[in-house]
Amino acid sequence: MEEMRLQKYLAQCGVASRRGAEQIIKDGRVAVNGVVVTEMGIKLKKGEKVTVDGQVVKPEKSKYYILLNKPSGVLSSVKDDRGRDCVVNLIEGIDARLYPVGRLDYDTTGLLLLTNDGDFMQKVTHPSFEIWKTYRAVVRGVPTETDVKRFAEGLMLDDGKTLPAVLDVVGYKGNNAIVEVSIREGRNRQVRRMMERIGHPVNSLTRISFGSLELGDLKPGKWRHVRPEEIARLTEDR
Ligand code: URA
Repeated sequence: MEEMRLQKYLAQCGVASRRGAEQIIKDGRVAVNGVVVTEMGIKLKKGEKVTVDGQVVKPEKSKYYILLNKPSGVLSSVKDDRGRDCVVNLIEGIDARLYPVGRLDYDTTGLLLLTNDGDFMQKVTHPSFEIWKTYRAVVRGVPTETDVKRFAEGLMLDDGKTLPAVLDVVGYKGNNAIVEVSIREGRNRQVRRMMERIGHPVNSLTRISFGSLELGDLKPGKWRHVRPEEIARLTEDR
């Protein structure tokens, strides 16, 4: 191994994204050759032993990219203090530490990527990446053309104005509408808050695409590997 910064090494080991690795270092969980390191930027030389929480970590041999149809009632995380179901437990037979790429709410279903590639994770979750994500929702009532325009102009929420977004009414269910919403950000509960703001709260929410990746007919709880060319398209697309 050439000299490599500790946080990059940890990301390559699939421990966390580079940013996440910085936090793990700050928290005093990382040791190099048995000595805890809390300052950033130290460089590793060949043969140095790195541990996290006392466990030796080594670069992952293979990179995995998994597309899961997240069911409702499962957390988009690796573990939960309260013992709730977590998405990583749905992926069996893969010998790597997988992390969800971003989050879907506990009740949201649909396309969620998981990977052990810290660099990929950092790239696609960075706010500047602005990847389009599309959600299908059943909402109360039927949005109007004025609502569609408000989305296109960006909508004022408690945490500031959103980027221009797309709202399409694609069907009806009794007095409710089926809509597709496309956004380029990943704020907390963003689609639910946007629909609430225009007076059409969400009854159910599914993510159907993430950049060029589509959920397709994958059933909730099922997953598939994302092919290398799909990953390349996802990161080149824009
Ligand atoms: N927007 C939401 O409101 N919830 C999600 O889970 C994803 C996007």
